[in-house]
Amino acid sequence: MENSNLLIRHMREEDIPKVYEVERKSFPFPFGEVLIGNIFYAAPELCFIIERDKKIIGFLMAGYTPIPKRVHILSIAVLEESRGQGLGRKILTYFLNSIRKLGYLSVKLEVNIDNNKAIKLYEEFNFKIESKIRKYYQDGSDAYLMIRVENEK
Ligand SMILES: CC(C)(COP(=O)(O)OP(=O)(O)OC[C@H]1O[C@@H](n2cnc3c(N)ncnc32)[C@H](O)[C@@H]1OP(=O)(O)O)[C@@H](O)C(=O)NCCC(=O)NCCS
Repeated sequence: MENSNLLIRHMREEDIPKVYEVERKSFPFPFGEVLIGNIFYAAPELCFIIERDKKIIGFLMAGYTPIPKRVHILSIAVLEESRGQGLGRKILTYFLNSIRKLGYLSVKLEVNIDNNKAIKLYEEFNFKIESKIRKYYQDGSDAYLMIRVENEK
């Protein structure tokens, strides 16, 4: 997807360090660069980046689950200075359209129960809170497990 100087595309191997930088700046307990690489190598077709003027400013990485037709969003972030401009919504829309083409009908993710911004975004896309996972994060805070199921038609 191209929009003036904005581009959403599949992530490539050479993007790993830049994606890690966005991850590191976005989370108190970020995934390490090696883990980012492992997620990418496991399912590059489920990993996307958003760039402006050829600079990576956001990403979404997902992986497969043992449940048929379900994928797992493992991390999504937009650099702080670029938030609130609809980019999170854009990359999520792009991702959902892409996985639909691959035949995937449901998506799960975990989100900190205090992360109202992200929860609101996911609810807008019909993700529903399925359960609460106690002490999911390293600091002992809880997560919601959220799931979105698309009608099979
Ligand atoms: C969550 C995140 C990816 C959203 O990206 P973004 O580009 O800022 O999101 P958008 O601008 O597309 O906003 C989409 C929706 O998110 C919600 N949202 C965004 N900013 C918000 C704010 N300041 N307050 C409340 N809701 C907000 C709203 O529902 C918004 O829709 P609206 O503009 O119609 O109100 C981004 O905030 C981020 O990187 N956060 C840090 C990492 C993180 O928490 N990731 C999620 C882990 S599960």
